[in-house]
Amino acid sequence: MGSQKHVFILLSVLFLFNPLLFSGADDVYYEFFLQEAEFTKLCSTKTVLTVNGSFPGPEIRVRRDDTVYVNVHNQGRFAVSIDWEGVEDSIDGANELIQPATVHGAFVVLPAAGEEYPFSAPTSDLTIILGEWFRQELTEGVVPGQADAYTINGHLGETYGCNDTSYELQVDYQGLYLLRLINAVANETMVFAIAQHSITIVGRDASYARRSFSSSLTLAPGQTLDVLLSANQNVGQYYITARPSSGRLNTTGIIYYTTSTGL
Ligand SMILES: *[C@@H]1O[C@H](CO)[C@@H](O)[C@H](O)[C@H]1NC(C)=O
Ligand SMILES: *[C@@H]1O[C@H](CO)[C@@H](O)[C@H](O)[C@H]1NC(C)=O
Ligand SMILES: *[C@@H]1O[C@H](CO)[C@@H](O)[C@H](O)[C@H]1NC(C)=O
Ligand SMILES: *[C@@H]1O[C@H](CO)[C@@H](O)[C@H](O)[C@H]1NC(C)=O
Repeated sequence: MGSQKHVFILLSVLFLFNPLLFSGADDVYYEFFLQEAEFTKLCSTKTVLTVNGSFPGPEIRVRRDDTVYVNVHNQGRFAVSIDWEGVEDSIDGANELIQPATVHGAFVVLPAAGEEYPFSAPTSDLTIILGEWFRQELTEGVVPGQADAYTINGHLGETYGCNDTSYELQVDYQGLYLLRLINAVANETMVFAIAQHSITIVGRDASYARRSFSSSLTLAPGQTLDVLLSANQNVGQYYITARPSSGRLNTTGIIYYTTSTGL
């Protein structure tokens, strides 16, 4: 019985369905090198499996109708399977439960060339992956239980007392940001919020959603939400928080306003 690890690619799709539109589809190639890398987080160092040394892994970002080729080179110690989460029944192995402490990365599908979002064009488009961190090294057969910490794009933030880095998002005053939120935590519903900002939900699990406003968002394991953030508060810094709905721990990041509009 060999150990096996999983690579989870979580899908965030937002496109308009318009079969009459001509779109210049491309072939897009990605090279993934699965490698062990050392990370120091939560006051200790351990080895984890990564794609190209990064945690979370690199993002796949394509347009609708493109064909994606992913060449996977396994340089790690374990056999690996790749799961595509959120692609409804279209790909084998989709919609399995995410396993804790596996590698994960985002798969973003943009509208095809010539298509637009059904809302104002965002200033920029960012992916935010909520993840988890375990102190121990996890191999198959180890049931880890609850995570020791939660991450925002790989950062643990300042609440754990370990000098961990915080995820920092720089926004321009009056800018409009499309955030692609992905809950890659195996077994926890996560609550995400940005202090003093209301967030507009525009997409859910890879399709457009009726717009709704909220000051905090709840994401089930494996769920993706596409939201708009208006940087319309006083210029300053605000906390981003991500916590499991069970509420035991929380992770913070920071939004910094810049005043590039001259205000
Ligand atoms: C991964 O690393 C390889 C070798 O350095 C590089 O050619 C490739 O473009 C990288 N892939 C991604 C997705 O960053
Ligand atoms: C905390 O991190 C900063 C930046 O990485 C580093 O300069 C500093 O020495 C660290 N402090 C401790 C106590 O580890
Ligand atoms: C999921 O979390 C609950 C509560 O934290 C725990 O009791 C349960 O064992 C976990 N299940 C898995 C599959 O990790
Ligand atoms: C997050 O956790 C820190 C430290 O445990 C605590 O001081 C803070 O009040 C918590 N914040 C939220 C929003 O729960």
